[in-house]
Amino acid sequence: MTIHFIGAGPGAPDLITLRGRDLIAASPICLYAGSLVPASLLDHCPPGARIVNSAPMTLDEITALLAQAHADGLDVARLHSGDLSVWSAMGEQLRRLKALGIPYSITPGVPSFAAAAAALGTELTLPGVGQSVVLTRTSGRASAMPPRETLAAFGASGATLAIHLSIHALDRVVADLVPLYGPDCPAAIVWRASWPDEKIVRATLGTMVEAAEGGPERTALILVGPVLDDSGFADSSLYAPGYDRRFRPASTDSRFAGPQE
Ligand SMILES: C[S@@+](CC[C@H](N)C(=O)[O-])C[C@H]1O[C@@H](n2cnc3c(N)ncnc32)[C@H](O)[C@@H]1O
Repeated sequence: MTIHFIGAGPGAPDLITLRGRDLIAASPICLYAGSLVPASLLDHCPPGARIVNSAPMTLDEITALLAQAHADGLDVARLHSGDLSVWSAMGEQLRRLKALGIPYSITPGVPSFAAAAAALGTELTLPGVGQSVVLTRTSGRASAMPPRETLAAFGASGATLAIHLSIHALDRVVADLVPLYGPDCPAAIVWRASWPDEKIVRATLGTMVEAAEGGPERTALILVGPVLDDSGFADSSLYAPGYDRRFRPASTDSRFAGPQE
């Protein structure tokens, strides 16, 4: 018997891994984070499955349900939105399961920042423009930020920022970042990436607050960085004709020419 933590993806029901889908189909219990997991994923549950929305539950209640399933010898598909490695509250559940000696598995999912980049039709790292992406957030009611993890600290690097859980604080985000990136820095907001009601606003840091006015107050990613203007960057060397590489030796003298292991 195993508790299967499964990344349910950003919203579109076909953005789940095959492994995740198959584990849902094989588990007689499904516990899903109802606030963001699309209901149609539950169609993969086997007939007669017990399906429980964890949104109104406490950690103790969730732990009790998982412990009971373990005692009954029943597998559980535990669904969280996006990927489980960021802001899924999986860590605290794993700690309880470890203490109770209950086995678990983890199946990754498509994170919302990747779905937002896809919605924007862009790559978040571009040669010579930006090669780092910071996944971050601002303080919320459920979690305060560690003191050194400020937008100012991350923004000082000029990296691309993917700011989660912060659309309600857009004014503050913009105020913190304009001094570092400048008012002309490209920025975008993607609400509910990959859901049918996905919404995108592109602007600059200086115009973002006005451009986002009237937008929803939840489930959005704020993206900031020069990479969001993808009009003027140089090609990488990767596919350049003269670039010597293991999979395409540039000459017969190449250290990669000849049989490779
Ligand atoms: C509790 S966190 C979950 C993050 C999730 N584990 C992930 O991998 O993206 C919820 C936040 O993720 C972002 N988010 C989740 N789904 C999203 C989507 N489809 N479109 C845009 N942002 C999304 C929003 O910032 C939202 O406030």
